[in-house]
Amino acid sequence: MIREILRMGDPRLLARSHEVERLGTPELSALLADMRDTMRALDGAGLAAPQIGVPLRVVIFGMESNPRYPDAPAVPYTELVNPVLTPLADDEEEGWEGCLSVPGLRGAVPRFTRLHYEGLDPDGRRIARDVDGFHARVVQHECDHLDGILYPMRIRDMRRFGFTDVLFPELAGATE
Ligand code: NI
Repeated sequence: MIREILRMGDPRLLARSHEVERLGTPELSALLADMRDTMRALDGAGLAAPQIGVPLRVVIFGMESNPRYPDAPAVPYTELVNPVLTPLADDEEEGWEGCLSVPGLRGAVPRFTRLHYEGLDPDGRRIARDVDGFHARVVQHECDHLDGILYPMRIRDMRRFGFTDVLFPELAGATE
């Protein structure tokens, strides 16, 4: 079922979400099905459970090709529960991000270039990966939602924050 996305300004997006304590449950499967439906309907690159009003540490992300991010490389579709992120170096790079909870806008956000992440899949199997580039960026963006952080809170140069159709006229017609 496609769920309504909370938008910036809603205090539920600023709360810390809770660890999932029981894996492999019908409730968790139903939550993930709704998150998949919602992300795909909106051409999102990722979605975190608190964005649909569920304060649990669950994120999904991944895409083959995405009209909202035409230059981004493919990221494998992943469902990640109770994620833990560890940067592999201090290096950061800025890149453009958008968010389904901040519709119509993009900002340049510094993120760690390389990181290790771990977590569980919905059945409790361990996921552990070392990633870089856009994959690393998407994971950091989605996991920030679990700690109540929205990407505009990480922008250092507010001159690089604006409306998608003004910044990127070539994306006109893409969702948002
Ligand atoms: Ni987001």
